[in-house]
Amino acid sequence: MSSLAVSYARQNHPRFLKELKALLRIPSISTLPENKEDCRRAAELLVAELTRIGMEHARLIETDGNPMVYADWLHADGKPGVPADGSSSAGWKPTALFYGHYDVQPVDPLDEWLSPPFEPMERDGNLYARGSADDKGQVWAQIKGLESLLAANGKLPVNVRAIFEGEEEVGGEGIAEFVASKPPELKADFALVSDTELFAPGLPTLCVGLRGMIYTELEVRGAKTDLHSGMYGGAAPNPFMALAQLLARLKDEDGHILIPGFYDDIIPPSPEELTAWHSLPFDEEHYRIAEVGSRTLVGEAGYSVLERTWARPTLDVHGIPGGFIGAGAKTVIPAKALAKVSMRLVPGMTPAKAFALYKAYVEKIAPAGVDVEVRLIHSGDPCLIPVDNPYVRAATRALREVWGKDTVFIRSGGSIPIVGDFDRYLGMPSVMMGFGLPDDNIHAPNEKFHLKNFELGIESIIRFLEEVGH
Ligand code: BES
Ligand code: MN
Ligand code: MN
Repeated sequence: MSSLAVSYARQNHPRFLKELKALLRIPSISTLPENKEDCRRAAELLVAELTRIGMEHARLIETDGNPMVYADWLHADGKPGVPADGSSSAGWKPTALFYGHYDVQPVDPLDEWLSPPFEPMERDGNLYARGSADDKGQVWAQIKGLESLLAANGKLPVNVRAIFEGEEEVGGEGIAEFVASKPPELKADFALVSDTELFAPGLPTLCVGLRGMIYTELEVRGAKTDLHSGMYGGAAPNPFMALAQLLARLKDEDGHILIPGFYDDIIPPSPEELTAWHSLPFDEEHYRIAEVGSRTLVGEAGYSVLERTWARPTLDVHGIPGGFIGAGAKTVIPAKALAKVSMRLVPGMTPAKAFALYKAYVEKIAPAGVDVEVRLIHSGDPCLIPVDNPYVRAATRALREVWGKDTVFIRSGGSIPIVGDFDRYLGMPSVMMGFGLPDDNIHAPNEKFHLKNFELGIESIIRFLEEVGH
């Protein structure tokens, strides 16, 4: 491989890393209102950088929430028969849509971080900071790939548009509306999504399926106000007890979701896909100890861990705010209780139907004496990506060269709501080429990005575009 752009990337790596740290210092937490301005600052930093490296039309696109970042470079087409640059590869060139997100998750519990989440620190070959792997490090890898190509060659091998959103971690409503309107800015032949992970260190990976989700709040109201638990205990309904009883009836001890009809529409993975999963290097004990760190794993019998996390729906409780949570004791029967509950959905399922089934069931089983309200916070469809296209083939060629290995195709249990919409509204396949690692602690304390993956991620993106434009 003799790529001028790759050489440029290697020479400039220390600077790339320094710049990434500046982006990571901005606490762009999309779910917290107090960080609104930080999200905007992160978006503005991206616009400035895209402009600086020679991308065109770099600007913010406003949404009802945090702004999106857009830029393009659309000069790769030579006129047929009249090579624009004297080379023989003139003619039609595809347009890539680069996608990533600059928003990050909250950092709590803060006291478990070994270094502050927004003070990036290098330790043992990793860069520690909130957003390092999910997803600012990967966004930066995309931008540095573009910079390297532009700086080394004065042009890109294909046309490129970039759209970076600031609300992925809160459901991505803004970009979903934008995509559904089929704007000219997003006219492209395929998307390059860098927001996933390698299956194992050093193993080049393309993600071809994501779970969808519905994120809900379940509110239970009992008495009209908080009550003295001695005076009223025994007569007044306790909303936390009612909530616990409700939650316990959503999923049984074997991991079956008890909502009637919930599993009806699932499309299981094909026998070929299951066979391929069986040959992935997966050690369940190592996963249990090193990644999960629990006494046992749980879930539906008869399904492997990969099936349970990639191809089966699940239901989880994220938090139960409310009541008395201060130091010491307070004898109170709270008037209301709340649980944040989400369900991951798999191909065949739709957020609308899953929510309707869940709501009807919860209302039916609500314990006596309380009112229950079910609210939908956000939702996203599951997706499966076709792999029989020239973009995926170009990606595997590039990855083989950079990583020295054949690509594995995996699914992921996580969700990136907009990827399904790229297909649905824009008819565009996505190449989900991401460079996180399973133990990067995304959404958790001590999030990290493996520095080697940052480096090889940039090279992979460069070589991928060069292969596509070949
Ligand atoms: N990048 C993740 C999704 C992901 C994680 C893909 C691991 C592949 C491997 C993304 O930022 C994410 O966390 N999405 C949320 C979406 C939700 C808030 C709508 C998720 O999955 O919880
Ligand atoms: Mn992400
Ligand atoms: Mn995330």
